[in-house]
Amino acid sequence: MSRIKNSLCLFFLFGVALLLSAILAGCSTMYDGQKLFYSVGCSQCHTVNGKGGRMGPDLSGVTDMRSDSWIMKYIHDPKAVNPNSRMHAFKHLSRAKREAIVAFLKK
Ligand code: HEC
Repeated sequence: MSRIKNSLCLFFLFGVALLLSAILAGCSTMYDGQKLFYSVGCSQCHTVNGKGGRMGPDLSGVTDMRSDSWIMKYIHDPKAVNPNSRMHAFKHLSRAKREAIVAFLKK
């Protein structure tokens, strides 16, 4: 009897684990970095893969030169990284949104 109970319990735990991983995977893909890049205004100043503005540097391949955390910080508050920056801060963008943008820049 206890053997059956044990295996039922394992089965249940396995189900919960599956559910949790599905939820977590869903959260991390909630934002589309490409859409954000164009909708929040990065593309007004930056080009990626030939599309966008020219005031800022072309960001194609920027993830090869800079670390994810550096870019995350730069988007949040450029002047904290580079006091002469002409880019404005995007403090309203959540970490998840900035992560999605960095993921897009890697493509
Ligand atoms: C008003 C124009 C403008 C907007 C909007 C803008 N940037 Fe910038 N960005 C710049 C300029 C100009 C630079 C060059 C260095 C500086 O002045 O900060 C720069 C630099 C950067 C850099 C550093 C590049 C490097 O390797 O030194 C990154 C990364 C970056 N921007 C990402 C973004 C992202 C992502 C967004 C949207 C959330 C964005 N920028 C929006 C103008 C802008």
